[in-house]
Amino acid sequence: MTSSLHLVGIAGSLRKGSLNRALLETIQSDLLPDGVTLDLLDISDLPLYNADLETGQAAPGTVTRLRTQIAQADGVLIAMPEYNHTVPGLLQNAIDWASRPSYQSCLVGKPVGLMGVSPSPVGTARGQQAMKLVLAAVMARLMPHPGVLVGSAMSKFEDGRLTDEATRAFVAKYLESLASFVRSTGPVEA
Ligand code: FNR
Repeated sequence: MTSSLHLVGIAGSLRKGSLNRALLETIQSDLLPDGVTLDLLDISDLPLYNADLETGQAAPGTVTRLRTQIAQADGVLIAMPEYNHTVPGLLQNAIDWASRPSYQSCLVGKPVGLMGVSPSPVGTARGQQAMKLVLAAVMARLMPHPGVLVGSAMSKFEDGRLTDEATRAFVAKYLESLASFVRSTGPVEA
């Protein structure tokens, strides 16, 4: 008997037709292993990071909500596009908010799975490399292997769903690995 796990998902794109959000939504409805739940977080209403907003007053409510949702989750699942070969600004902004206070944030020791979807054949490989540096800096625990790079994605999605059978099978297997990884991790000292 395995323990239940609660993951939170972050899509690194705000657009309605986002393929990355479609991947997370397909996972949520079809591909999660038994005993694993996934809630998608809303990062669309976060302000741009500004340390002044935290000085001498409570952080904005949207920031507190993000930090609490991550803190209460067993792990985080990120699906990101790459913008100009790196991390999209809105996703970097969310990580920056979540990463404070430094070395004591909700991300310290948090298990993370990283995926990316792109119409290009490269499938976000460059953006994910950049994201790995960010996750290391905030002391998150990225599952090092395997990764999920969904390239040439236009033919793999239909009506906002991941429909390509080989990719669905790969992602389902990846989620089994991620669940094992999350279960194997314990708290870390900052
Ligand atoms: C892109 N796109 C893109 N794609 C890629 O493979 N490598 C890249 O460096 C970039 N750069 C880039 C910059 C900017 C500003 C935009 C808006 C787009 C294309 C991108 O992968 C494509 O729009 C994806 O569909 C975005 O992901 P969502 O929104 O579908 O989740």
